[in-house]
Amino acid sequence: MKLLATFLLVWLGHSNAEGQVHYEGSATQASVLNAFEEDPNFDFWSRPRIFDAPVDIMVTPAAQQMFEDTMRSNGLDYRILIDNVEETVQAEKVRLRKASTVVAGEVTFEEFMRHDEINAYLLRLGEDYPDIVKTEVIGKSFEGRDLVLVRISSGGTNKTTIFMDAAIHAREWIAPSMALYIINQLVENPNNTDLYEDIDWAIIPVANPDGYEYTHTTARLWRKTRSPGTICYGVDPNRNFDYMWMGAGASDWQCSYIYAGYTAFSEVETQALRDYLMAYKDDIKLYIAIHSYGQYIIFPWGYTSALPDDNDELVAVGERVNAAISAVNGTTYCIGTSTNMLGTAAGCSDDYAKGAVGIELSYCLELPGGGTAGFDPPASRIQPIVEETWEGFKAYHAYIKEKFVDGVY
Ligand SMILES: *[C@@H]1O[C@H](CO)[C@@H](O)[C@H](O)[C@H]1NC(C)=O
Ligand SMILES: *[C@@H]1O[C@H](CO)[C@@H](O)[C@H](O)[C@H]1NC(C)=O
Ligand SMILES: *[C@@H]1O[C@H](CO)[C@@H](O)[C@H](O)[C@H]1NC(C)=O
Ligand SMILES: [Zn+2]
Repeated sequence: MKLLATFLLVWLGHSNAEGQVHYEGSATQASVLNAFEEDPNFDFWSRPRIFDAPVDIMVTPAAQQMFEDTMRSNGLDYRILIDNVEETVQAEKVRLRKASTVVAGEVTFEEFMRHDEINAYLLRLGEDYPDIVKTEVIGKSFEGRDLVLVRISSGGTNKTTIFMDAAIHAREWIAPSMALYIINQLVENPNNTDLYEDIDWAIIPVANPDGYEYTHTTARLWRKTRSPGTICYGVDPNRNFDYMWMGAGASDWQCSYIYAGYTAFSEVETQALRDYLMAYKDDIKLYIAIHSYGQYIIFPWGYTSALPDDNDELVAVGERVNAAISAVNGTTYCIGTSTNMLGTAAGCSDDYAKGAVGIELSYCLELPGGGTAGFDPPASRIQPIVEETWEGFKAYHAYIKEKFVDGVY
């Protein structure tokens, strides 16, 4: 058995750039990587624990030599995937500077939208489709941005609800595009009215807007919130939820990419999600956190390798979703628990939704990444990705309808 790993060797911030490395080794050697996880010199873009899957790591120039020495002395093989991440970021910036195609109040899948453009679209939908679209500000970010949630409903209260959030990790730009496509298809494509007939959709396209905007203005690869610590900024909001908080796969070091915060729910953004999930806990039957990248359909637990009691059902639904997506153009996803697919991540939102809120069907979807193009796919890939993945969301809906509306199971 082989563990393929892709390492990105790169500087963070302004220092001289290095690059990315790609790498192959035996499965047992994977544990060598764990030591690097909390160190801010190492940014795990994607870190599967399963065999034959690549691990992508961005490494600062300062740590590159030590990293390569460690790899070699442990017999781990690697190769550079992106030699200089800053160059891909700069190339993306040049592309982004081209005239924006965003029309005020409209959505586009030809480029990654800014937070204010996204909110303008959501508010416009609320005005144009008052019978089915309700926008709600469920809280403010640390820097005071509105956390906007859209509920799409045929009317009535206490309806079976599918809840989704995206971009809780700031740099995962394909995630809000996905959320927006779901909203766009539900509201503006008359073919899809049956999808909200019996089931409500509650969607937050940008759950961490401060971080998201920061990735557009300042640091493309920012992941966390923007609340200040004493030395470093930001908390990993997907380690900040109060279920097995600060357990395995979370860091108490404030400069770490996986810093879980000084306490559970230290972040106003995660508090807002918590309050909404708790308020509608009886209605929400499916929770999906939209992330990138790696093409994974994962589910609890993230704090332990033990399987949930309903593992078989979670796998079966994941397989339906994967089948629907891959039928479009062959894109496949790996299915399993977070810990067993990617490694521990205590305090993540899908664990909280299942373990603390009681939403049994709780998932995290890792959308496709950009490969050698950088963290996210280039903007030209947004449309094909959201189109094919939408078929997966329809499959999720079909299952929820069968189980909770039609009572098939
Ligand atoms: C409907 O939802 C509201 C708000 O979540 C809740 O207070 C109420 O008890 C629910 N009613 C029923 C019949 O479940
Ligand atoms: C609605 O469905 C019809 C029939 O399948 C199709 O031709 C049409 O393009 C669809 N409309 C949209 C907006 O997707
Ligand atoms: C479909 O898959 C092929 C092979 O991977 C790829 O070259 C092509 O770009 C894909 N098309 C779309 C629309 O995603
Ligand atoms: Zn993420």
